[in-house]
Amino acid sequence: MLIKEIKELKNLVKSWKKEGFSIGFVPTMGALHEGHQSLIKKAVEENDKVIVSVFVNPTQFGPNEDYDSYPRDIKKDLELCMMVGANVVFNPEPNEMYFNNRSTSISVSKLTSVLCGAKRPGHFDGVCLVVSKLLNIVTPDKAYFGQKDAQQVAVIKRMVRDLNIDVDIIACPIIREEDGLAKSSRNTYLSVEERKAASVLSRSLNIAKNLLNKGERSASKIKEIMMEEINKEPLAKIDYVEIVDNESLENVEIIEKNILIPIAVYIGKTRLIDNFIFEIYTY
Ligand code: PAF
Repeated sequence: MLIKEIKELKNLVKSWKKEGFSIGFVPTMGALHEGHQSLIKKAVEENDKVIVSVFVNPTQFGPNEDYDSYPRDIKKDLELCMMVGANVVFNPEPNEMYFNNRSTSISVSKLTSVLCGAKRPGHFDGVCLVVSKLLNIVTPDKAYFGQKDAQQVAVIKRMVRDLNIDVDIIACPIIREEDGLAKSSRNTYLSVEERKAASVLSRSLNIAKNLLNKGERSASKIKEIMMEEINKEPLAKIDYVEIVDNESLENVEIIEKNILIPIAVYIGKTRLIDNFIFEIYTY
C-alpha cells in the first residue's frame, strides 16, 4: 500500500498498535536495490508490520549536490518493497514533510564534524532532522539502517540515545556486487569504465583486512598501503581514507580495539563510500 499523507500513516500505525502489532521501519531515499531489500527482509522477519519510507530528503543535500538528479522511480520502489513483504511504502511530498517556516534543527556535534560530515557541511543535520521526524511519525519498535553509511549509523544511534527516542536502531551488513562494490543508488551514475574502476574501494578495504589479520596494528601504515592501491586506479580520486574508533569516530593510531575503516573515493564525478569494521576479540 502506498501512503502519501502523514495523517493517514499515523492513523494506520495507531490502529496497528491497538491490535498489539510490532512495527519495523526502513527509512530510504528510494532507488531501491538489494541492499535496501535486505533491510526490509530483516524488518519483515523481526516485526509484525513493516513500513518503508521513500523520500529524497532535500535538507540533507548541499547546494552543489545531486538532489535534483537523484534517481526517483516510486513505481519500481513500491514493487521491490512489496516483493519482500513490506506492508506500507510512505512516500510524502517535500511540502508534506516540511513546513515552509520550520524553525527547528537537530545537530549532533563532534561525530558529524569528521569524515563525510567534514566534506558535506549540514548533511547530517538534514539526516537527523528527517530521521527524527520520520521516527516521530512512524513510532516504530525497530528501525533498520545500512552499515554502508557507517557514520550515519553512529550519528543516528547517538541522536536516539541523547533524545531518548524509544526505538532500537539496527545496523545491517553491507550488500556487495560480485566484484565487491558496495550496492548503492549512486552506482547508477557510473559509466561502464567507471563501474569497473569502482571495485578499487572494496579491494583497498580487503588489503586492510588482510594486513590486520596478519597482525599489522599501525593505522598510518595501513592507510598508506590502501591509498597506494587506490591511487593506482586512474579514474579514482581519494576524498578520505581513515581509521577511527567505531563509536566515537575519533582517529586511531595504534589499533588496539574495535575500529572502523571508512573511505570515500570519487570515481569520475561520483563520490562513493565504503567501510569495514575490524573487531578485536579479548578472551
Ligand atoms: O540513508 C539514507 O538513505 C538517508 O540518509 C535516510 C536515512 C533515508 C534519511 O534521508
